[in-house]
Amino acid sequence: MSPPQATPNPPGSAGARGGESALSAARLSSMPAVKAAAQAATQWRGQPGALLPILHDVQDQLGCIPAEAIPTIAEALNLSRAEVHGVVSFYPHFRTEPAGRHVLEVCRAESCQAMGAEHLADHVRQTLGCDFHHTTSDGAVTLEPVYCLGLCGQSPAVMLDGKPHARVTPDKLDRILDRAMQHAQEAKA
Ligand code: FES
Repeated sequence: MSPPQATPNPPGSAGARGGESALSAARLSSMPAVKAAAQAATQWRGQPGALLPILHDVQDQLGCIPAEAIPTIAEALNLSRAEVHGVVSFYPHFRTEPAGRHVLEVCRAESCQAMGAEHLADHVRQTLGCDFHHTTSDGAVTLEPVYCLGLCGQSPAVMLDGKPHARVTPDKLDRILDRAMQHAQEAKA
């Protein structure tokens, strides 16, 4: 599947619907999503392929790409909102809601599948009580799929808060999660 094609604005173009004045106003917005989108758009627009770095910047700043950010980005790049939304929803990396306190990514690519990743996925869904792309009801863990962590020789693999773990069994995964929760508790105390 190839990514959706969002035609970038020509370099120097202010965007038919969103000129510099609209962007200046958005930068002063009291809405964090609008402000972050305007700041990122100001930095990147006019450069080829500006949409992805803008989306990365917004997510880095806010932890997600809220719906309110989309119109500002679309206007700045002279794209439709649907085009921007299409790119956001195409890439699993981008999220439209803030993640939980921990992010658990379970590899679902071929090598891990062959070594029991599906069983691991069933176990983690049951343990956390939520499906992929969702967060546990207490906001502790967001569960995401990932497609290869570069640990194919030590499948199945997961990543918790950016740290990879190899040869993961359901028991090992429980221990990894327990440890992370414990550390979070200790850090709070
Ligand atoms: S397929 Fe899972 S780490 Fe490569």
